[in-house]
Amino acid sequence: MSSRRQFIKQSVMGAASLGLITDLVQGQPKPVAGTPIVISTWDFGVPANQAAWDVLTRNGRALDAVEAGVKVAEADLSNPTVGKGGYPDRDGFVSLDACIMDEEGNCGSVAALEHISHPISVARMVMEKTPHVMLVGEGALQFALENGFTKEDLLTPSSKQAWEEWLKEKKYKPIMNIENKSFNTERLPGNQYNHDTIGMLALDAFGNLSGACTTSGMAFKMRGRVGDSPIIGAGLYVDNEIGGATSTGVGEEVIRTVGSFLVVELMRQGYSPEEACKEAVQRIVKKKPDTAKEIQVGFLALNKKGEYGSYALQSGFSYAVCNQEKQDLILKGKHIF
Ligand code: GLY
Repeated sequence: MSSRRQFIKQSVMGAASLGLITDLVQGQPKPVAGTPIVISTWDFGVPANQAAWDVLTRNGRALDAVEAGVKVAEADLSNPTVGKGGYPDRDGFVSLDACIMDEEGNCGSVAALEHISHPISVARMVMEKTPHVMLVGEGALQFALENGFTKEDLLTPSSKQAWEEWLKEKKYKPIMNIENKSFNTERLPGNQYNHDTIGMLALDAFGNLSGACTTSGMAFKMRGRVGDSPIIGAGLYVDNEIGGATSTGVGEEVIRTVGSFLVVELMRQGYSPEEACKEAVQRIVKKKPDTAKEIQVGFLALNKKGEYGSYALQSGFSYAVCNQEKQDLILKGKHIF
């Protein structure tokens, strides 16, 4: 047998033993039930999903889809919680956190990155161009600039105005609940949005999973504070055998429970995506019952079959779903309180 034919035979046998339903010779996917699909946190996930969907429907890789998707939220200047236009820390510096994970378990992350409007692409470059997983602060900026990213001022006139408003009282009470406006109006001046994050999970037509998560973090946070979003296992986790999970809300509680990893491991044990997310928020309640009543945390999960679900501490958490049936679906997350 020629070495080329031998290679193709071995590749196909290998793919079959891994359960991949892919025609490797043609390079085209055969239909895998439930694919492609992309889901993401909050209503602003709808336009982000649509950018990801463009990639997925061209038989693109889930990794490319999630990067393209969350970049839409990062570029949206009216979104004060992700990318450029995100609210600054209490000293007026906009610092961004992001991470990305692919179907092979490769991952990259940046934290406390300033001056770069697409931290997700820097995170991907950390994954693909360095032997490391995470770069932070000045080092992350240096890496980005060395790799062709442009330095920008990320503080927009409206986020500067919100910060100046906050400075009048300088109340440092990092309670987050953007979607529940009664919480919000009580605790932040000018009915400002406090916080959220875009977390996105995609399953491509080849049956491969990837995820991305990006945020400007808690509004008016302490300088140097990093939440869950760039922490693999906390803000995002993907295991291509099982599924993926991502989170939004008060990152400290998600880090304490290694939330997204927990959700994926629960799915490994047979939990549905929704059940797994529910159990993860219940762990937060169990560990910190009083804190849990005051904050928001939401998890979102997608399994290998294309099944998805979410659960949050508080009402109001929403997520966007895009699949063959519907490209702009917004669903309300179930909740504990
Ligand atoms: N969940 C995002 C953060 O806590 O920064």
